[in-house]
Amino acid sequence: MNIILCGFMGCGKSTIGKYLALKTGRDFIDLDEFIENEKNMSITEIFESFGESEFRNFETQAIKKLSKKENHIIALGGGAILKEENIGYLKSSGKIVFLEVSPLTAFERTKNDDKRPLLQVDNLLEVINDMMSKRKQYYEKAADFKIDANDKDIEKIAEEILNLF
Ligand code: S3P
Repeated sequence: MNIILCGFMGCGKSTIGKYLALKTGRDFIDLDEFIENEKNMSITEIFESFGESEFRNFETQAIKKLSKKENHIIALGGGAILKEENIGYLKSSGKIVFLEVSPLTAFERTKNDDKRPLLQVDNLLEVINDMMSKRKQYYEKAADFKIDANDKDIEKIAEEILNLF
């Protein structure tokens, strides 16, 4: 059974995933990194060359492959739960934990970042507010568990996740 982390950009999926992997001795896979390695391109380059909808197809192909893994910690990309098909693959391979953060937390953690194509905008907080309110229902629907990931350190969040299992 894989432990799969989902949530909005900046919620801490990759950082917490790596920490959990260290703690549990499981292997860690970051979905975005997996796609970057498969395509030999950065996420930004993929968005620039192929556009978001093709990125979503690559994402689904990668999820299909990753869902065959066992006992891994997997950090998803923030939009990976938007497709019903993806959720089907993920649910068949493990339990999904939603790391919930507020728009302000996501804003603070992503405002200096240049690696997320969807957040390269002038009105960042407004964009995050809007995306998050549209996506919240998808995170809630996909998740088996939800953890508040706003004002806690990594150790505490990891402990809460491990207590779930
Ligand atoms: C995206 C989130 C990113 C990455 C891509 C699209 C999204 O992953 O997959 O830029 O749609 O939320 P992180 O959540 O790891 O930043």
